[in-house]
Amino acid sequence: MNFELTEEHLMIQKMARDFAQTELLPGVIERDEKQYFPQELIKKMGEQGFLGMMVDTKYGGGGLDTISYVLVMEELSKVDASASVMVSVNNSLVCWGLETFGNEEQKQKYLVPLAKGEKIGAFCLSEPEAGSDATSQKTTAIDYGDYYLLNGTKNWITNGSIASTYLVIAQTDKEKGHRGINCLIVEKGMEGFTIGPKEQKLGIRGSDTHSLQFNDVKVPKTNRIGEDGFGFKFAMKTLSGGRIGIAAQALGIASGAYELALKYSKVRKAFGTEIMNHQAIQFKLADMATQIDAVRLLCFKAAYEKDRGLDYTLSASMAKLYASRVANYVASEAIQIHGGNGYVKEYHVERLFRDAKITEIYEGTSEIQKIVISRGLLK
Ligand code: CAA
Repeated sequence: MNFELTEEHLMIQKMARDFAQTELLPGVIERDEKQYFPQELIKKMGEQGFLGMMVDTKYGGGGLDTISYVLVMEELSKVDASASVMVSVNNSLVCWGLETFGNEEQKQKYLVPLAKGEKIGAFCLSEPEAGSDATSQKTTAIDYGDYYLLNGTKNWITNGSIASTYLVIAQTDKEKGHRGINCLIVEKGMEGFTIGPKEQKLGIRGSDTHSLQFNDVKVPKTNRIGEDGFGFKFAMKTLSGGRIGIAAQALGIASGAYELALKYSKVRKAFGTEIMNHQAIQFKLADMATQIDAVRLLCFKAAYEKDRGLDYTLSASMAKLYASRVANYVASEAIQIHGGNGYVKEYHVERLFRDAKITEIYEGTSEIQKIVISRGLLK
């Protein structure tokens, strides 16, 4: 067993760290306040190769492994989790799904521009009444021979208005339960497809979250991914990889908050000395750093298993469950170390605290991760 990163990994980590400091840090408070993410910045992330980093180079991607992805997600998330969720959804849920289960024609048409960062993708599973209970899809895709007629509403869709390519999960045959669900590739601009207003969120406010409506949208059958009825398994398999990305996002939020707290403790004075000299602060830093290290190892384990073609479902859920808990704990402790300064925007930890919460909710709540983990343990 080797705990060292390779030269290539270190280089990728540094590139992401530099990008986060020079491109994401300036303006992050304003983007959070105003709830926007400039097109120009998305373009730059695409040029850096972040948006399709794990896709094979023959489809325009970076051909990198999942460890590299974890490293990039951590570095970007330390500074701006709104940027990193875009990277995570595009890589894990959209590109990976298309590359692994799409046919060659779908890959050439949809995957290549997504992997190159020329277009953005969205993954559309959640509905007003089907978040955790993903089999209870109300959106329907009725089979009309050479096309499906798509009707329904999707909620809380990341990249909702900026995406061009949408992977939409819908029920074709209710009688068949999860085996009657399909995943269709829907293009922005298809007749009957409309985008609802932007959600007003607690955290990751720069990220573009919308509801989507489908009213009699004709989707060609050639846009179905996999065999008829494969949609639910497609979603589950895709989400397993997505959970590594969100675990790494939570890791980044935690390590970003920890680094800020550590730095602050070395300059802030109280009772005649820097606060790092007080045991009350030292114990907090020790707990924070220990938990962050444990999370990083869980993320690497899940990534390692994925890169070797092993079953990583359990490890991915364990990593996400623990990482999201630690992100919330560490961000809260970072505010505590900052005292009053931690409660105001300019010290950044209050944003990390708000951003941390979503990691316990999206791509499966913590309760869902416990279901996945316990089923894995008991099977
Ligand atoms: N990989 C492969 N197959 C899987 C699987 C996985 N990880 N998980 C389940 N399956 C298969 C099962 O083997 C079963 O197949 P068979 O019947 O052939 O044996 C089938 O799928 C149904 O599985 P279950 O009976 O376990 O299904 P369930 O209804 O009990 O649901 C669940 C399981 C784990 C709770 C699932 O519904 C789930 O993960 N829910 C959460 C959904 C979620 O994460 N939503 C987040 C939205 S996306 C998002 O947030 C993106 C974003 O914008 C950031």
